[in-house]
Amino acid sequence: KKKAFVENLLAKMTLDEKIGQLNLPSSGDFTTGQATNSDIGKKIEQGLVGGLFNIKGAEKIKAVQKVALEKSRLKIPLIFGMDVIHGYETTFPIPLGLAASWDMNLVQQSAAVAAKEAAADGISWTFSPMTDISREPRWGRISEGSGEDPYLGSEVAKNMVYGYQGKDLSLKNTIMACVKHFALYGAGEAGRDYNTVDMSHVRMFNEYFPPYKAAVDAGVGSVMASFNEVDGIPATGNKWLQTEVLRKMWGFDGFVVTDYTGINEMIEHGMGDLQQVSALALKAGVDMDMVGEGFLKTLKQSLEEGKVTQAEIDLAAKRILEAKYDLGLFEDPYRYGDAKLASKEVFSKENRNVARNVAAQSMVLMKNENNILPLKNSGTVAVIGPLVNNSLNMTGTWSVAAKHGEAVSLVKGLQDNFGKDVKFVSAKGANIDYSEKLENVYAAHGKLTDRDNRPKEVLLKEAVDVANKSDVVVLAIGESAEMSGESSSRTEIDIPQSQIDLLKELKKTGKPIVVVLFTGRPLALTNMKDLPDAILNVWFAGSEAGNAISDVLFGKVNPSGKLPVTFPRSLGQVPIYYNHKNTGRPLGADQTEKCVYERFRSNYMDECNTPLYPFGFGLSYSKFDYSAMSVSDVNPKGNQTIQASVTVTNSGNYDGAEVVQLYIRDKVGSITRPVKELKGFQKVYLKKGESKKVTFNISPEDLKFYNNALKYDWEAGEFDVMIGTNSDEVQLTKINWTK
Ligand code: IFM
Repeated sequence: KKKAFVENLLAKMTLDEKIGQLNLPSSGDFTTGQATNSDIGKKIEQGLVGGLFNIKGAEKIKAVQKVALEKSRLKIPLIFGMDVIHGYETTFPIPLGLAASWDMNLVQQSAAVAAKEAAADGISWTFSPMTDISREPRWGRISEGSGEDPYLGSEVAKNMVYGYQGKDLSLKNTIMACVKHFALYGAGEAGRDYNTVDMSHVRMFNEYFPPYKAAVDAGVGSVMASFNEVDGIPATGNKWLQTEVLRKMWGFDGFVVTDYTGINEMIEHGMGDLQQVSALALKAGVDMDMVGEGFLKTLKQSLEEGKVTQAEIDLAAKRILEAKYDLGLFEDPYRYGDAKLASKEVFSKENRNVARNVAAQSMVLMKNENNILPLKNSGTVAVIGPLVNNSLNMTGTWSVAAKHGEAVSLVKGLQDNFGKDVKFVSAKGANIDYSEKLENVYAAHGKLTDRDNRPKEVLLKEAVDVANKSDVVVLAIGESAEMSGESSSRTEIDIPQSQIDLLKELKKTGKPIVVVLFTGRPLALTNMKDLPDAILNVWFAGSEAGNAISDVLFGKVNPSGKLPVTFPRSLGQVPIYYNHKNTGRPLGADQTEKCVYERFRSNYMDECNTPLYPFGFGLSYSKFDYSAMSVSDVNPKGNQTIQASVTVTNSGNYDGAEVVQLYIRDKVGSITRPVKELKGFQKVYLKKGESKKVTFNISPEDLKFYNNALKYDWEAGEFDVMIGTNSDEVQLTKINWTK
């Protein structure tokens, strides 16, 4: 039915109308929705626009859709996109935080809530999930992905797609997802945004491609090309990537959109003029041109000159029309966007409660000396730091639809939830940073930093006075929201010195200190980690941040997040990731653990090989004991499935959850293999005193990898099967798998 409908429509379309379907301008007026009066409005009337993004509000979107339906010749509905990245108005933790929950039901639920809100407000398409693997803490957009691991990243990717798209894309409460940025955007040299990527195919396929493929396998409707080059050709014009890999190898049948002016940027890459690069993109397999209008301006001429074919234009237009069909837009162009429904659905109490839970589950307890946490529900608590009273900083990067001003700040969350029994006193203590250059940059990014212009000493003294009057200090430090995200690469990944100075001053008071760490990237915490008694990493937790942080600080929620990315000791170790190769001269296990330097081995003279906090790490208020692991068969054959199990006991004083992790090492291969790879995880909830047996099924499917000929298969031999609480603390059983 779809095929016939779309073919029939295509047959009626002029060349201009077909090219128009490939054009995705930005409304250019996000808040006022004046698009109907603009140049874009005229283009819509002429059938020269396929969709629009950056327009918010059911009524505004309806008004623009009306133009397409009432004034354009063929009345083809527009598709409305938006960066609904970690929630719509109800904002969830930044994606890196979401991944730290290791809870795929919550991941899916957060995407479903985002879809429901966005759809009620007129949006039918989101530019999410972002599944770029990254081992680069300097890169600001590491905050938008799921971290360093292909397995965890794939699980998150597919659950995000399920959450957004639901079972039926045409339902009123589901929207089309767009996996991005295809491909390798997280591997830019030196962590500089948009920078060159150069990578072996074996690494691409084994380590960086899996999450994109997982999204495709989950049925994602669209793919966004990345800005960077792949194999010397920008991804936007890379036929091998967008057609051979994506469509032919993986069977993707949706449409590919550029990232913003990705086509035009190929001119700067050195690939030719606008006509050349537009033709290159179309021929590579790109269907929709975001913002740059290269297709609109040049494809007709390219067709006349034989530089593109009619079939290539038809195919791209067909894919856009098919997506609109799948969304049900031909049946009811106003399906998405119901102002009445939106007023009930968007930023509802119910949705915020979901966000509060997800936020609490994403937090990672990194240190808790003498069980200082959870805090007692009595006495005086000093709440200090540049981020304590700042609701604008709670939602984090890419939260374009968020109600920033209504996000719950830390002080508000504490006061509202525990203010009856606890006295909270507060001071700023320091600005985020004192560097003039950075202050200007932050201001340019969105003026979120509420700088206090009093002298540094005055701010410090005020904080010390407040601390002296309290029983415990809660110190909120780290990055402000604009320090991570797009175009926010840093060459230092420490907490800015102004805040370290504050921590040192407070330490002198002798009061116990709980650091609430705000961050959008793995930070190097070496210069501060010994000073506080506890560190709770809260990322940027979204609309309900202050409530969720309070829930965790006071023990209403027992933290269970685990790091989806390695936290280095220093920037010099970067890239550092748990699933690295062994090299021919590895440092011995003992030396590695004790940080002993050995000449002519792969190590540093001035730094350990190990990270400060490994991938998968996170503490709990409770204690989880692991039994010895058992493996059902240590000599499996062929396509057998074996079981690896442990019994986990909650032997602490609080109910809680533990993420039990399965890793495998392929000891000998036709190509070198990582020292371990995550192959499974289960988040188990255990009441205090409770035990549960956790079993992982392992089959040859889990042993497969892309070999040197890019054949995806497994190789018989010896494997280490490991189960543990993080990537570093594991127990190991050797097995030998024959064909
Ligand atoms: O979706 C984004 C992308 O991640 C970065 N460039 C702009 C796009 C649309 O806003």
